[in-house]
Amino acid sequence: MAYQAKNYSHLIGMEGFSKQLLENHFTLYQGYVTNTNKLADILSQMLKDGKTATPEYAELKRRFGWEFNGMRLHEYYFENLGGKDALAKGTGLIGAIEKQFGSYANWETDFKAVGSMRGIGWTLLYLDGANGTRSNDWINDHDMRHLAGCTPIVVLDVFEHAFMIDYGLKRADYIAAFMKNINWKEASARYDKAHK
Ligand SMILES: [Fe+2]
Repeated sequence: MAYQAKNYSHLIGMEGFSKQLLENHFTLYQGYVTNTNKLADILSQMLKDGKTATPEYAELKRRFGWEFNGMRLHEYYFENLGGKDALAKGTGLIGAIEKQFGSYANWETDFKAVGSMRGIGWTLLYLDGANGTRSNDWINDHDMRHLAGCTPIVVLDVFEHAFMIDYGLKRADYIAAFMKNINWKEASARYDKAHK
């Protein structure tokens, strides 16, 4: 079944993110959805045609990880934006963050530090489903270095397209704007679903 691009236009008007920046970002995301579907179709046709033992199949299969994760990570990112309230006391997620990092402030310091690392990629608060550990981590590009078995709880895009239109090289200011707009209800729901 083909993937459908989701509509995130409700985020337009969010403080610290211009309409132009968001619309560009939505267009870029839609490209990942289109290419994910295109690659899935081509790969399935190659299977039908008996062309799987070919370098073309291998390279397109590798490419699929780039396009698919480009699609999915943007969905995590847009869906954990648009929040107005701080992470509520008493939620499982705040308890987990405090247990792992000592305090919310310590977690935020570490999350921002990972987001400020030089290079392009993604910053994530992960929950390790195997032992319950929470960690802030980094994904190069879209498809490299995912931690197996970990669920993304908060996802921050630090590719330059995510901020340069509004912030130029001031990535820290963009990250500060992101922190103000985290949809903690969504992040908490991800945590509760993964932490069973
Ligand atoms: Fe992006």
